[in-house]
Amino acid sequence: MSESLATVSYIGATILFILSLGGLSNPETSRRGNLYGMIGMAIAVLATVFGPRVTPSGIGWIVGAMSIGGSIGIFAARTVKMTQMPELVALMHSLVGLAACLVGYASYIDTSIQLDGAERTIHEVEIYIGILIGAITFSGSLIAFGKLSGKIGGKPLLLPARHWQNLAGLILVIVLGKIFLSTHAVSDGMAPLLVMTVIALLFGIHMVMAIGGADMPVVVSMLNSYSGWAAAATGFMLNNDLLIVTGALVGSSGAILSYIMCQAMNRNFISVIAGGFGGGAPAPKVGAGETAAEPVGEVTPISATETADLLKEAKSVIIVPGYGMAVAQAQHTVFEITKHLRDKGVNVRFGIHPVAGRMPGHMNVLLAEAKVPYDIVMEMDEINDDFPTTDVSMVIGANDIVNPAAQEDPTSPIAGMPVLEVWKAKTSIVMKRSMASGYAGVDNPLFYKENNRMLFGDAKKMLDEVLTALKS
Ligand code: TAP
Repeated sequence: MSESLATVSYIGATILFILSLGGLSNPETSRRGNLYGMIGMAIAVLATVFGPRVTPSGIGWIVGAMSIGGSIGIFAARTVKMTQMPELVALMHSLVGLAACLVGYASYIDTSIQLDGAERTIHEVEIYIGILIGAITFSGSLIAFGKLSGKIGGKPLLLPARHWQNLAGLILVIVLGKIFLSTHAVSDGMAPLLVMTVIALLFGIHMVMAIGGADMPVVVSMLNSYSGWAAAATGFMLNNDLLIVTGALVGSSGAILSYIMCQAMNRNFISVIAGGFGGGAPAPKVGAGETAAEPVGEVTPISATETADLLKEAKSVIIVPGYGMAVAQAQHTVFEITKHLRDKGVNVRFGIHPVAGRMPGHMNVLLAEAKVPYDIVMEMDEINDDFPTTDVSMVIGANDIVNPAAQEDPTSPIAGMPVLEVWKAKTSIVMKRSMASGYAGVDNPLFYKENNRMLFGDAKKMLDEVLTALKS
């Protein structure tokens, strides 16, 4: 393939990636967005493999590596459950970081690259920054994977003088960078590069370990952004324009997402990065990310039949799904119930919190899969004012996102986080298996409110019973 054809293909792929991002911003166009992304990526890979910079002898290596990577990818896509998606995404971000590190070292020791003067300095700065971002992304994403999968406790690790430690690390990285740029031989530059890599790896671990409780969504999207910048840095090192553009797209969209997440949780971005949030909360139980909370009052249980009776009498219902709906895979029954109630003339709508579940858009994906109409799925800001005029609010496997302590208790670790005000409905029904707290490990006063009822049990099982009772 000629240089110009490769360039045209890269421009085509770039346009498709931008169209893909545009499509993914709305559930109705997301399939098309995915398709654009897949076609763009296929063009990008073909134009690179058959492009002018790959020698025929190198194609065998690339095809071999792609077959192994592709097989692992297909296996993961087929076996990973929907509830494990966030941790899989975190693991994939770590691979982008690792790739940036390896490419950085490879291009540093590559003797075929002979540059002088300013060009050499620019190339070495690219290598240094690429490895720095790559190493932070790699170790930070591995810790995020551990936290999201419950292999590492969710409580923030607060080392003494941690901000000073970070500052010392930063100063050391700058000094090492100066030393690295002043060296002339690879053997001399290797030592500062390796020491910087170790500092960056430790910083990545420290940064994510210091973040706790409900701040994890911000960290995940922030690491997403870092992985984009790591890819862009790799693009600079390899002189590959498409990788630079794609990396910048991922980096900036991840940064925008982090900002949106911070707004949704009423958190300041810098204080999230500085960590320590959620320190007052009990440590989440290893394995499930949840822990038993101390009961503070009386709860009123309700049966599936009584729930159905309340729904039969209701004129307006708001359903608030959370992580438990994903665990129970209850979305299809939720749709059946919605359809039944709507057929009877009940105004049924969904209230979606921006950080419900374990990844951005988690609930929207599940509801779309179950074919719930998009026009009744509302954002938190669109529906929060409607709870006081609602007969029944039905909380399905959600906890932190409906916790009134965020508004009522300034000492709560989630104080200030906007929540769905389900308790303002005439009756609220919370569907969960026990009194355990949610991801942030915070007790929930909603359970003890006078107008709240608890429907204990697996969400899918209980909703099946509610549906049967509704139809009887
Ligand atoms: P959570 O607060 O985690 O609460 C989920 C609840 O679902 C749990 O209390 C659990 O109670 C219940 N549950 C689990 N399995 C169930 C089942 N089979 N049937 C019925 N209930 C079940 O979830 P949420 O309200 O969606 O809030 C999300 C939390 O995750 C926030 O703190 C958020 O910051 C955090 N987070 C979000 C993201 C993103 S990007 N969305 C990423 C990482 C972390 P039982 O054990 O008693 O059943």
